[in-house]
Amino acid sequence: MSKTKSAYFCQNCGHETPKWLGKCPGCHSWNTLIEEIKIKKSGSTPFSRKATDAKPKSLEDIHQKDNPKFSLADTEFNRVLGGGVVQGGLVLIGGDPGIGKSTLMLQLAVKENLKVLYVSGEESEQQIKMRAERIGIDNQNCFILTETNLDSILKHASSIEPQLIVIDSIQTLHTGHIESAPGSVSQVRECTSQLLRLAKEKNVSIFLIGHITKDGAIAGPKVLEHMVDAVLQFEGDRNHMYRLLRTSKNRFGSTNEIGIYEMQSNGLRIVENPSEILVTNNDKELSGISISATLEGLRPFLIEIQALVSSAVYGTPQRSSTGFDSKRLNMLLAVLEKRCGFKLGAKDVFLNIAGGIKVDDPGIDLAVAMAVLSSNANLAIPEGIAFSAEVGLSGEVRPVNRIDQRITEVEKLGFNKIIISNNIKGFDSKKYGIEIVQCSKIDEVVKNVFS
Ligand code: TYD
Ligand code: MG
Repeated sequence: MSKTKSAYFCQNCGHETPKWLGKCPGCHSWNTLIEEIKIKKSGSTPFSRKATDAKPKSLEDIHQKDNPKFSLADTEFNRVLGGGVVQGGLVLIGGDPGIGKSTLMLQLAVKENLKVLYVSGEESEQQIKMRAERIGIDNQNCFILTETNLDSILKHASSIEPQLIVIDSIQTLHTGHIESAPGSVSQVRECTSQLLRLAKEKNVSIFLIGHITKDGAIAGPKVLEHMVDAVLQFEGDRNHMYRLLRTSKNRFGSTNEIGIYEMQSNGLRIVENPSEILVTNNDKELSGISISATLEGLRPFLIEIQALVSSAVYGTPQRSSTGFDSKRLNMLLAVLEKRCGFKLGAKDVFLNIAGGIKVDDPGIDLAVAMAVLSSNANLAIPEGIAFSAEVGLSGEVRPVNRIDQRITEVEKLGFNKIIISNNIKGFDSKKYGIEIVQCSKIDEVVKNVFS
């Protein structure tokens, strides 16, 4: 006998209520409760939760396995994961449609020297083969399975015994134990928990591809992110070739590492030196362009900031920015107006970070302010100058973290001057081979650059 029961689940947090409600009692979001029919089969399922005979152990008695992590040939991926893939780890990868999640995972599957099971619920075998050929197949131990039924995937996984399983995507899977549609909160939750058990029991690493909602969060219940060991975001501007792989959660490493890839016609290529591509080398000096040294994780690189300031056509001036927080841009414009006397109130200001990347490092503030002033005065910033400092509300130039690494990167790329804050404890400017100018106020920076 099976018992049919329907319940309402919040598509945001997974909260379950017996009645429909406008507002979810769990996460307080509106109109997220959706009815799902659950049929719980009587009798035990292969995955019914049984008590195990685990006993408490002292830390001394727990021995680490010899090599809990294995490294991939893809060095960017290793770095983002904190040094390699953890055996038995469950990793979730989210990103906009068409950004290249399937390409990234398939590339991993066909290039690494591992036994891989690539499960796709979105593409046919032929489509995957076509894509794999585009990328280039080096791994003879890569198995492709086009299946959406989790029970059958688990059966194949135990017969093939792969070291790595890729699921494209978790929203297409369904298990027979629950009768709601694939992609619904309860299916996603149940499928993930079964895969988690497989990962821990068989010590196989699993990568899950997850869809994201229009606000950029991973679709499905929030518990999904709690269950997995690491959450990666694959992002980038679809009109640009660069893709960034970021971590928002990582149980085995730091979350502030990023990987940079370039989408080419034959797959994703690792970008080893991002500064060289993100900074254009113009022969002519143009106004409105400044260079800043920024940091993503432990990795310094240079970015080019472009600003355009022009008289406002309409009564209310427009302010728009791509790749930089627009609230922060407004703040910097207010600081320039109030503290330094530049009249920008009646000007349209457009800001762009070249290469389509997003930066939220406050260390590029000074470069943003200088790009705006340069465009406003129509005076180019002389070649060879880079900036690295935060700007405070009183127009002071503030220090940023890891200044050594930033200066070294600027020096490596052939710049001859960097402007930083004068307020850095224990800083020794003599150990660098480039001119270091330390300023305390924006006015000083302006004088130094344009005079
Ligand atoms: P895809 O991996 O299908 O995206 P997702 O799984 O995130 O939805 O991304 C496909 C995009 O990448 C598609 O627009 C074509 C492009 N692409 C290349 O530019 N080069 C390639 O070698 C491949 C395989 C795809
Ligand atoms: Mg895909």
